[in-house]
Amino acid sequence: MGSCQSRQRRGRASISPAAREPSTVEKSLRNVFAFSVNMVPFHFEPLCQLDLSEKQKEIVKNHWTTTLLAQKPDLFYTTMVFSVNQSPKMNDVIAAGCQTDGNATSEFLVSAKMERMAMGVRDFFARQIFDNNLDSVLVANDARDIGAVHASYAQYGFKPAFLDIWQSNAIELLQGLLFEDLDEKVVFLSAWRQIIGYVSELMMVGYDAKMQSIRAGKRRATIHEQIETQNLITRRIMSLV
Ligand code: HEM
Repeated sequence: MGSCQSRQRRGRASISPAAREPSTVEKSLRNVFAFSVNMVPFHFEPLCQLDLSEKQKEIVKNHWTTTLLAQKPDLFYTTMVFSVNQSPKMNDVIAAGCQTDGNATSEFLVSAKMERMAMGVRDFFARQIFDNNLDSVLVANDARDIGAVHASYAQYGFKPAFLDIWQSNAIELLQGLLFEDLDEKVVFLSAWRQIIGYVSELMMVGYDAKMQSIRAGKRRATIHEQIETQNLITRRIMSLV
């Protein structure tokens, strides 16, 4: 910040007192340049890696069906229900498109959508565990992609902070699973904390990148109109000189 300020001061001091006012044409061109610079999207990179031991991976795999799905087949649905109860705004996102005849929101459609979503989440994690073998890069790619999908729900009120709420509810439900071997439970939970935290972070990265490209697209459309207008003004000015 300090260096930015001193660079600005140096910049100002170098302007000659005799510097002339830029012409209207120059001002127009500078505006076009400034808009173009603002179009460049800014990308975040994740700060963490998924670094699970072979033992953690094995325990997560072994307990997926025999413990997790056997004891709580609706764990991902319940996670969503708890999350909606804590943050009712999530319901608006889920209820979007579930109106019947433009009147009351159909409870049935909302709960069917939540079921569908819970199945989507369950399949997503199964894919990371069994197909992607919880590999850091493969999981990151899928999580970023699904984060980008969630950017299309922003228009209905989706917020990245929902993922934090979702995360803590999922962990709480996982903690309720019963294990014969308590040491295995400790390893299982430490692995899931990492997986869920990592997926959420990467989803936010994908969400954010997509939102920026949507905004950049909108800006591009506006800039296109502004450039057209500026070209018109420039042509008129040029015809006068
Ligand atoms: C780590 C957490 C989450 C994961 C891994 C996840 C993953 C998914 C997946 C895989 C789908 C299916 C997408 C498709 O088939 O195209 C989905 C759909 C959806 N998700 Fe999430 N999601 C998460 C959290 C949330 C949260 C907190 C909300 C809050 C409202 C949410 C809202 C939705 C909605 C509205 C759909 C569309 C459902 C439909 O129309 O079928 N998701 N999600």
